[in-house]
Order: sequence, then structure tokens, then C-alpha cells
Amino acid sequence: MALLTWHDSLYGIGVKTIDDQHKRILVMINNLNDSLQRGGGNSEVGVILKELVEYVKFHFAEEEKLMEEINYHEIEEHRELHEKLTRHVIAILLRLKNEQEVSIYELLSFLRDWWNEHIGEEDKKIGQCLSTRALKVSK
Ligand SMILES: [Fe+2]
Repeated sequence: MALLTWHDSLYGIGVKTIDDQHKRILVMINNLNDSLQRGGGNSEVGVILKELVEYVKFHFAEEEKLMEEINYHEIEEHRELHEKLTRHVIAILLRLKNEQEVSIYELLSFLRDWWNEHIGEEDKKIGQCLSTRALKVSK
């Protein structure tokens, strides 16, 4: 069973490129979950995580570009959240690489919580900021 399910009302921010990128991240987290359920080894998990880090870095840069364009008031705090996630996942990747123990349960619950808190709350605020501006412009 998929760990995460996309719902426009919960996760959509109303910007297609960003929503599409979020959907791709969701698929990657689900793939990671599937791999773990199948008993995929550290190397398989490592490959998926590496892919996730690379994609998330690209996506964060895109999202930060959008925040700059709209002069988003919480851009610095938001950037910090992006860096925190990136650092956390890179640290796990390093542990895998060094064959240190990694709690897969913790990793997945971390990613699931991150998804709900970051995509479901923080990124939604960007969408709300955009729609408020659109309302002001159309008035
Ligand atoms: Fe974000």
C-alpha cells in the first residue's frame, strides 16, 4: 500500500510546475517505502535516496525562485527548512554508504511527517500568498 496519496485539496498549491514536482517527490517516497516493504537492501534504498536528494535539490531551487519572484515574506525561514531536509537526508545517505545502521522505520516516518508538514502546510502558504495577491490585483 502506498505510504502517501496525493490530494489536490491537501497538497496542491495551485502552481502546476510546483505541484507536478511535489507529485514526483511523493512517488519517490512511495518507491522508497515499496522497496523497504519488499526487503530491498541498503544499496537499493541508497539509490532511491540519492535520486530523491538530487531531485529535491532541483525542486527546492525552483520553489525558491518562485518565492523570490513573488517576494514571499517567509522566504528565509522556508529556505532554512529546505536546507534542514537536505542535510538530514544527506546524513542518512552517508550512514548507508559507511554501512552504519539506519532505522528504516525512522527514515520513513521522518519523510512522511516532512511531507505532511512541509508540503501540506509550509508550501501551502506560498499558494495562499499567491492567491491573495491575485485577488488584490483583480480588485
Ligand atoms: Fe518548500
